[in-house]
Amino acid sequence: MNQVTFAKIQEQFAQDVYKGLTDSPKHLASKYIYDEKGDLLFEEIMNLQEYYLTSCELDILKIHKAQITDLFLQNTRSLNLVELGAGNGKKTRIILEELQHRDANFHYVPIDISDNALRRLQNSLSEEFPGLKVKPKQGTYFNKLKTITSSTSTKNVILFLGSNIGNLPHKKAIEFLAQLAREMHQNDMIFLGCDQKKNPQTILDAYNDPYGKTEAFNKNLLQRINKELHANFNLDNFLHWEAYNPETGTAKSFLVSKIAQRVRIESLDLEISFAPWETIHTEISQKYDDALIAELAKSAGLRIENQFSDRKEYFKNYVLMKTTPAK
Ligand code: AVI
Repeated sequence: MNQVTFAKIQEQFAQDVYKGLTDSPKHLASKYIYDEKGDLLFEEIMNLQEYYLTSCELDILKIHKAQITDLFLQNTRSLNLVELGAGNGKKTRIILEELQHRDANFHYVPIDISDNALRRLQNSLSEEFPGLKVKPKQGTYFNKLKTITSSTSTKNVILFLGSNIGNLPHKKAIEFLAQLAREMHQNDMIFLGCDQKKNPQTILDAYNDPYGKTEAFNKNLLQRINKELHANFNLDNFLHWEAYNPETGTAKSFLVSKIAQRVRIESLDLEISFAPWETIHTEISQKYDDALIAELAKSAGLRIENQFSDRKEYFKNYVLMKTTPAK
């Protein structure tokens, strides 16, 4: 990330924190959890048994890799496998391996805002997959996607894994998918990981682990504000609370003030007061069913072409394509 981009992001962070903490009820955006420490905590969460999402999606890729890559290679001789977010590549490796095994002609194109994450991924892949054609793109998803789809007629398969879509409320999720659809050619596909509605207790357990990892993950928002905006949040004065609404499928994370307290944010020249048990809403993690995905897809100009599920039916990966324009 260059200096200008970094300064812009910092300015946006300061503005969003100001807006969120002076609003009623208070809120902070979950995207700001992910600094170096937040990334590390999320890695740890993904390894917890309670956080079933990662192992279920891995299960899907392992069981259905042949059928999934059949679909990716349908009607084409070559492919751009575009991934939104670099991550550690653990899941993507299964697809890369299968495509290589089939001697497919493809490029792997991870897009990420972080140069560092892309470099780490590329280094680990080049050791494991000699000969793999990796074309990392540093930048925002849509800017980079545009450069790919406008410069080539090669089929693009866009991976958006891990139920990351679930961190967006429906309206934003539709806008996101519609923006992808606008960049896609008729034969292109989205491969979308979506956590499913299930026993509410299983969901609560996933977002309320007994080791305090999810709590630390959410509280990293406050820690970042302390560090980057010179604030004096005392993390012990807040508790992490998870609520799941089985009717809507929305899991919501909160930080709850245990006492009446005032917090000073030096860089914003702002003093925030909290009443006892006042909340800061930090994250939504939406859970889906087929009807909900069909509805979101339709509103975005997409349709479900196919879907794959793990053995427990906890998680699904949907293959979405553009709705054929009416003749
Ligand atoms: C990144 N995202 C899909 C995770 C989720 O499940 O919403 C973030 C997370 N929050 C708490 N645990 C993990």
